[in-house]
Amino acid sequence: MSQAVLCEEKVKSPEAQYDLLTEVMDRYNRNEKNLIQILHYAQSIFGFLSSDTQRFIAEKMDLPLSRVSGVVSFYSFFSTMPKGRHTISICLGTACYVRGGKKIIEKLNELLGIDVGETTLDRRFSMEIKRCIGACGLAPAISIDNNVHKRVNPNRIKNILELYE
Ligand code: FES
Repeated sequence: MSQAVLCEEKVKSPEAQYDLLTEVMDRYNRNEKNLIQILHYAQSIFGFLSSDTQRFIAEKMDLPLSRVSGVVSFYSFFSTMPKGRHTISICLGTACYVRGGKKIIEKLNELLGIDVGETTLDRRFSMEIKRCIGACGLAPAISIDNNVHKRVNPNRIKNILELYE
């Protein structure tokens, strides 16, 4: 087994994930002014910020849990729920909104059975809203992971989703 695979497996175990998070906090001197960066790292390690992870950070940094959870809930880029393998970002910037962004959301609700901010039970997709993804001239647009899909027709979204396992 290669070193890379070993490392990947190691970081997947909860103990290794918490060890890594402790290392990160140490690197940032467990200083409250670095809390946002630490939370970013924690989210990249675990995929989301569970209440256990928030409690762990609060204890190790000697902060009230309410301080940590307050920051997590304030910033929309922090998630307290597990994310799907693929993130669908629906643009609701002005151009996309005017050209039917809401219809895309309705279609995704129907096809996936989830709403914005939720994840499918099979953890395949999560849904979120963006305010502009840089494709205004070809609205309405969505992105899935790093791929932008332009001039999206709600009746063809099923075909787009099939591209993502
Ligand atoms: S408003 Fe949707 S891409 Fe800019």
